Amino acid sequence: MSVEELKQTVSKLQERIAHLEKKTGIIPNVPKSIRAILIGPPGCGKGTQSENLKKQFCACHLSTGDMLRAQVAAKTELGIAAKKIMDQGGLVSDEIMVNMIKNELNNNKDCSKGFILDGFPRTIPQAEKLDDMLGENKKPLQSAIEFKIDDELLVARITGRLIHPSSGRSYHKIFSPPKKEMTDDITGEPLIQRSDDNEASLKKRLGTYHSMTEPIVGYYKKTGIWKGIDASQKPPKVWSDILKCLGQN
Ligand code: AP5
Ligand code: MG
Repeated sequence: MSVEELKQTVSKLQERIAHLEKKTGIIPNVPKSIRAILIGPPGCGKGTQSENLKKQFCACHLSTGDMLRAQVAAKTELGIAAKKIMDQGGLVSDEIMVNMIKNELNNNKDCSKGFILDGFPRTIPQAEKLDDMLGENKKPLQSAIEFKIDDELLVARITGRLIHPSSGRSYHKIFSPPKKEMTDDITGEPLIQRSDDNEASLKKRLGTYHSMTEPIVGYYKKTGIWKGIDASQKPPKVWSDILKCLGQN
């Protein structure tokens, strides 16, 4: 078979697969670009599913937690102050976080193709400021996806999590282990545990989530872009439910 014939066969197969996926509802007719936020408690899977969304939409993934951890690693003034707050399960000030996101959305070229905000907004004032800044560019949010899960399921996820610090990639000792123990699959670099990934910090982080962040669910229900998914399911099922949500736009 010639290269040209091979290309035609591949292209026909791709069309057939896309047709069957739509027909069976496995992958719904998702939009081409994305402007979404992921809302949910610590360990619900925001970071894990952001990786899938980033690949699916070639969009940028902005995790405010990863940005803060980069500041901590660089031992900047902000990083030193933030580490204390993060380990205690509190929130860094709205002003700092809003400026951080504004800077990325305005200057990161990848964000013009779409973005997934993971861990932002986390308070009503952050949500209001986000709407203001996106309104200025006439590119409003399309989806606010809430990851719904019982608190009890999060202890095992958080205490077993391992991360690759420079990329933010996460693994789990039992649910999603790396190929080689304590080693990143892609770079071969060592994995670590986050300093806030222990039961005591988690309890405080959950308290902060319920009191400060959960109210934004009501905010997005009012604007009509809220969607909820069951985050207690296996990762592939969570992913297909996210695609279904996005397909309803
Ligand atoms: P951040 O880093 O955002 O932490 P978080 O919200 O507590 O969320 P996590 O990263 O812990 O969980 P995740 O949902 O990403 O779960 P993951 O996919 O890794 O923020 C850290 C801190 O920074 C905050 O506490 C705050 O102090 C500060 N901060 C950040 N943003 C801020 C803001 N906007 N304003 C103010 N302060 C801010 O999954 C967890 C584990 O479970 C992994 O091991 C994974 O492999 C596994 N897993 C994932 N999905 C599944 C599944 N379906 N089944 C089984 N295991 C799964
Ligand atoms: Mg995360």
